[in-house]
Amino acid sequence: MKLRSSAWFSLRDRNGFIYRSWMKNQGLPDHLFDGRPVIGICNTWSELTPCNAHFREIADRVKRGVFEAGGFPLEFPVMSLGETLMRPTTMLFRNLVSMDVEESIRANPIDGVVLLAGCDKTTPALLMGAASCDLPAIMVSGGPMLNGKFRGRDIGSGTDIWKFSEDVRCGAMDMCEFMEAEACMSRSAGHCMTMGTASTMACVVEALGMGLPMNAAIPAVDSRRYALAHMAGRRIVEMVNEDLRMSRILTREAFENAIRVVAAIGGSTNAVIHLLAIAGRIGVNLTLNDWDALGREVPCLLNLMPAGKYLMEDFYYAGGLPAVIRELGDLIHRDALTVNGKTLGENVSGAPCFNHDVIRPRKQPFKADSGLAVLRGNLCSNGAVIKPSAATPELMKHRGRAIVFEDVEDLRARVDDPDLKVEPTSVMVLKNCGPRGYPGMAEVGNMPLPRKILEKGIKDMVRISDARMSGTAYGTVVLHVSPEAAVGGTLAIVQNEDMIELDVAARRLHLDVAESEIERRRATWKPPQPAFDRGYYKLYHDCVLQADLGADLDFLRGRSGAGVPRENH
Ligand code: FES
Repeated sequence: MKLRSSAWFSLRDRNGFIYRSWMKNQGLPDHLFDGRPVIGICNTWSELTPCNAHFREIADRVKRGVFEAGGFPLEFPVMSLGETLMRPTTMLFRNLVSMDVEESIRANPIDGVVLLAGCDKTTPALLMGAASCDLPAIMVSGGPMLNGKFRGRDIGSGTDIWKFSEDVRCGAMDMCEFMEAEACMSRSAGHCMTMGTASTMACVVEALGMGLPMNAAIPAVDSRRYALAHMAGRRIVEMVNEDLRMSRILTREAFENAIRVVAAIGGSTNAVIHLLAIAGRIGVNLTLNDWDALGREVPCLLNLMPAGKYLMEDFYYAGGLPAVIRELGDLIHRDALTVNGKTLGENVSGAPCFNHDVIRPRKQPFKADSGLAVLRGNLCSNGAVIKPSAATPELMKHRGRAIVFEDVEDLRARVDDPDLKVEPTSVMVLKNCGPRGYPGMAEVGNMPLPRKILEKGIKDMVRISDARMSGTAYGTVVLHVSPEAAVGGTLAIVQNEDMIELDVAARRLHLDVAESEIERRRATWKPPQPAFDRGYYKLYHDCVLQADLGADLDFLRGRSGAGVPRENH
């Protein structure tokens, strides 16, 4: 088979000289240019992305595997997205990174690629970019941190921050304890070790068949994480020789498997948007309705924070994702092909479970019905989502008066105001936090409860927004309202005291205001001014799709393959 890289390195002319000569300044010997598979290692390492700060070591292990299998590894950096530091939100840049990945792969003499991802958005961004090139690819996740340990108990990334900050606000925790907890929570390399977005997406990688078995759960600092990276390096060389491209793995069945796995692990709502975007790149027709229909009968088997009690380290010791997928039995397309050349069913058959409190059997699930519910109604004509497993059961059917915040600054300015007209039954509404409005659809949907509500000992209220929510958060929180307020969705015209009805069982979200009044308000509505009118912000503002379509840029859907039209000299 003639490899793609031979169009660079096998040339016996002036261009071939240029392609090889400059590479040799790195001390690369002649035989590496003899036609062997060239493997790109796409690295999101950055000290500004602490979850991925150990990736140079992982890349080295991948290289060992590539060399061992007769390949030629070449590591390259792409923009990295650190969830904790980047403003206004990493989600704004997910699509930009995907473009970086796509064009870096296509423009270079790469036959196959190993994708190194960890922190939330790095996983979808790399899968999206690589899918648009459709070369053989395998993902290696960076792995979760070890369990947080604070004053004799386990604490989870994100999840316990929300608890601690509410405790500080209501006087149950002092500032010294709060600051002590920082180092106790993040005490090793790796990404968030709750079932937040990073862990969810690492499970998605495995469920889609894009990672080796056990990719999701091995802790970042466990030596077996490095062995897995080594094996991925070996395997990608074989995949190139087999011409096993992403489009053979990312089939409709693979996405259906991933949706059911997200339900079974009680995964993050962010997976909805990311999977819709990845499917859009590879050409699989996936919709919000698929999320509701496929997740509906799937029980939550995993007892992990934020919904449960354990953390990713416990999940690994209990058997990891293969044990969950095996337990799902006939809910999974067992014939779906995976990167190791075997089917998903073959990979998980006989996968043991060592702790049935962490990974529950299907007959005694952790929660009976855990799929994400997709809501419809005049407040979200294109859909909205809620995660029932993170919500308060008594609030799943609720009617209350709206208390409206026009944007996140308005929320922060007024939420603790003693004169705020809010009741425990109120429905908190936050506008202008969607893809175009924020911009980038920030994780602010789990609004802090007003202080006067917290002081009554109340821990949850119905909250509605066009924002996303951190996968480590919880509450009766309706997210991803589409169309968003900034494009004139009904959310934009909700006013204080309007009645809102939520009925999760009926999949309904309704603004109880007469249609004529809605139209009257809509006629006077004006779109907010964008934050910047140049650069990537402008491109994003002008081209971003709504949440129900994955919030990709409209011109990025689909794939162009790996062909390049012209020589460069
Ligand atoms: Fe990186 Fe949570 S902050 S995974």
